Amino acid sequence: MTTRSIENLPWVEKYRPSAMSDIYGQKEIVVTLEKFVDEGKLPHLLFYGPPGTGKTSTVLAMAKRIYGPQHYKSMILELNASDDRGIDVVREQVKNFASTMQIFNKGFKLIILDEADSMTNVAQNALRRIIEKYTKNARFVILANYAHKLNPALLSRCTRFRFQPLQESAIQERIKYVCEKETLKVSEPATDALLKLSKGDMRKSLNVLQACQSALDDPSNDEVTKEMVYECIGNANPDDINSLLDSILKEDFTTSYLYFEKVTKSKGLAIIDILSGIIEILDSYKLKPQTRVKILKRLSEIEYGISKGGNTKIQSSAVIATIKDAMVGEAY
Ligand SMILES: Nc1ncnc2c1ncn2[C@@H]1O[C@H](COP(=O)(O)OP(=O)(O)OP(=O)(O)O)[C@@H](O)[C@H]1O
Ligand SMILES: [Mg+2]
Repeated sequence: MTTRSIENLPWVEKYRPSAMSDIYGQKEIVVTLEKFVDEGKLPHLLFYGPPGTGKTSTVLAMAKRIYGPQHYKSMILELNASDDRGIDVVREQVKNFASTMQIFNKGFKLIILDEADSMTNVAQNALRRIIEKYTKNARFVILANYAHKLNPALLSRCTRFRFQPLQESAIQERIKYVCEKETLKVSEPATDALLKLSKGDMRKSLNVLQACQSALDDPSNDEVTKEMVYECIGNANPDDINSLLDSILKEDFTTSYLYFEKVTKSKGLAIIDILSGIIEILDSYKLKPQTRVKILKRLSEIEYGISKGGNTKIQSSAVIATIKDAMVGEAY
C-alpha cells in the first residue's frame, strides 16, 4: 500500500495491530497463542467476546507470525458465516482453498470463519463435518460474539478464548500512541469521557477520536474537548443532564419542560439519549431504595413506549413528571 493510501485509511484500519505484541489488554491470550504457533501445535480455535476487543486483529497478526508478512494473505481464507449464501458456499470455498497446495507450506492453511454465531444449527452441524474433513490441511479459527449460540459439538472441536472488554488502561495506552502519531491533542476530561463511553470497545474509541479530529477547525492546534466526545458519540453530556435534572427538581413543570425541549433540540438528542443519561446520573444520587425502584420502573415503561413509537411530547412530560413525583421528600 502506498503511504498516501495508508494516510487515508480509517484509523481502525491504519492502527490495526500488525504484530501480536501490538494487541493491547489481552496478554494471556496472546502468550498462549504465541506458544501454540512457535511450537507448531495450533489447534482449531474459537475467539469469542464483544465487538472491538481484538478478535479479528489477533487472528490476522497470528497469521502474519505463522506465514510471514509477505505470504500470509495467500494462506488464509476469510469467510463470513452470516453470508446468506449459506453453508454450501462455505463448503465449496473451503474445499477449493484447503485442497490447493502452496509453496510456502507450513503444513496447514488458516480458515477464518467470522460471525459463526449467526449460523443456523443445521449449518453449524455441517461445519463440524467440514472441520473434521479438512483438519489435515487446515486450521479453523471461528470468530463469534456469543459462545452460547454455538453448537456444543462445534465448541468441543476448538480451543476457546474469551476476549474480555478491554480495560480502560489498555485503551488509554493505545489512544495515547495514536494521538502521538497523529499529533492530536485531547484534553484530560475528554480522554476520561472517551474511555468511559467506549465501554471496553477499542474500535469505538478510535472511531470517536477520529470523528472528533475531523470536527476540529484547526487539528494541528485545537484540542479535542469533552463536549466534542459526547457530541460525536451521540450521548448526552452529563453536564447537560445535570442541569436538566436541576431544572426538573427546582423549577415548575412548564419551565422544566421548555428546558427539556431546548436541550434535546440544541444538542440534537433523542428522548432515549436523555433517558439513558438521567439513569446513569441517578446512579450517583443517594436515594431511598423505594424511590429508585419507582423511578426506574416508570422510566423503563417510558423507554418501552418510545421503542413502540408514540408521542414525544407526552413522553418527555412523563419523564419530568416521574422524577418530580418520585423525588418529593428526597434529600438529593
Ligand atoms: N486489543 C486490541 N489492541 C489494539 N487494537 C485493537 C484491539 N482490539 C481492537 N483494536 C482496534 O479496533 C479495531 C477493531 O478490532 P477487531 O476487528 O480486532 O475487533 P473484533 O473483536 O474482531 O470485533 P467484532 O466482534 O466486531 O468483529 C482494530 O482494527 C484495531 O484498530
Ligand atoms: Mg471481527
